[in-house]
Amino acid sequence: MKQNEIMKYLYDVQHPAKGDRNIVELGMVDKVEIDGNRVTVTLAFPKHRDPLAEYLTGSAKAALIRHIPGVEAEIKTVVKEDNSPKQTGLNLGTEELENVRYIVGIASGKGGVGKSTVAVNLAVALARLGYKVGLADADVYGPSVPKMTGTEDAIPEAYRDGDKEVIMPFEKYGVKWMSIGYFAKPEQALIWRGPMACNALKQMILQVRWGELDFLLIDMPPGTGDIHLSLVHDIPMSGAVIVSTPQAVALADVEKGVSMFRNEKINKPIVGLVENMAWFTPAELPDHRYYIFGKDGGVKMAEKYGISLLGQIPIVQSIRESGDDGEPAALSSRPDGVAFIELAENFISRMQDL
Ligand SMILES: Nc1ncnc2c1ncn2[C@@H]1O[C@H](COP(=O)(O)OP(=O)(O)O)[C@@H](O)[C@H]1O
Ligand SMILES: [Mg+2]
Repeated sequence: MKQNEIMKYLYDVQHPAKGDRNIVELGMVDKVEIDGNRVTVTLAFPKHRDPLAEYLTGSAKAALIRHIPGVEAEIKTVVKEDNSPKQTGLNLGTEELENVRYIVGIASGKGGVGKSTVAVNLAVALARLGYKVGLADADVYGPSVPKMTGTEDAIPEAYRDGDKEVIMPFEKYGVKWMSIGYFAKPEQALIWRGPMACNALKQMILQVRWGELDFLLIDMPPGTGDIHLSLVHDIPMSGAVIVSTPQAVALADVEKGVSMFRNEKINKPIVGLVENMAWFTPAELPDHRYYIFGKDGGVKMAEKYGISLLGQIPIVQSIRESGDDGEPAALSSRPDGVAFIELAENFISRMQDL
């Protein structure tokens, strides 16, 4: 039994006084403890003797018992006055996404596999092919889009439009960029957890004046936790691209990613898999391929799950350097730049079949 499994069941518990919003999304789940078949969930209420406390703890308990045979569920309550309910009162709608044709999450089971590299380069490659593209860097654990695009110093402009606060994305290389990194220092981002991270992310996507876009890519945090469930729940995504290296450990996590998106509650199509670091090619031996993480792991994984393989990206020093220099490889006409353009073309043709 895992924490995110419990969260998933708690999504069913709706707060009768807050429309159809559930207790997870409202930031009321303070703690989930699992010990064998005992599950203790602590719900946070903004005030003492909340009139709905009894109803909600009862519903939460029922949700767990209904889904987990033999569970011993206990629901505790705690009062947290200035907890997230204030922040969740943001009441954000999806108006800013109205002129966005497709929203696609870029996900990976594991960090460090090149998810952001693929997201940034796919965005740039799509823009080079003439599409209108935006990228929201939602990786609270390590936002890397500012560095990879050389926009570390960007301070997004925000203004009021009627009763709404809107944020302008930052444009560079023909792409509209937005990153959680523009608002928080890297060490701050790391300590964000649970509801706080979820709210910051939603705000960063829903309050941004994206304008008209063919594609809005979302660089999601690695893994398959409650932040993912919340993002996928609140942002109308069309599907997801999964990034992995061919290594067995990374691929094992891909399976979790695939089952997350195919889970009946989420049920989003997987656009395809990108095998990153598929082989190593040294600059001085451009025709050589060294399969340092194993050969075709991604190809086999794609076959096993019936997912299309959108592309294989080699490890080349220029991809890492261009990431560090803030000039994405997809801008170049080197072989690595071409690999990303081909990836973008495959992505487009798959999107047309969705
Ligand atoms: N194909 C590649 N060739 C060379 N370096 C790469 C490649 N893909 C990613 N990297 C480098 O590996 C590191 C991790 O990549 P990143 O995209 O930040 O991963 P993630 O977002 O999955 O954590 C970065 O330094 C990046 O420049
Ligand atoms: Mg990243």
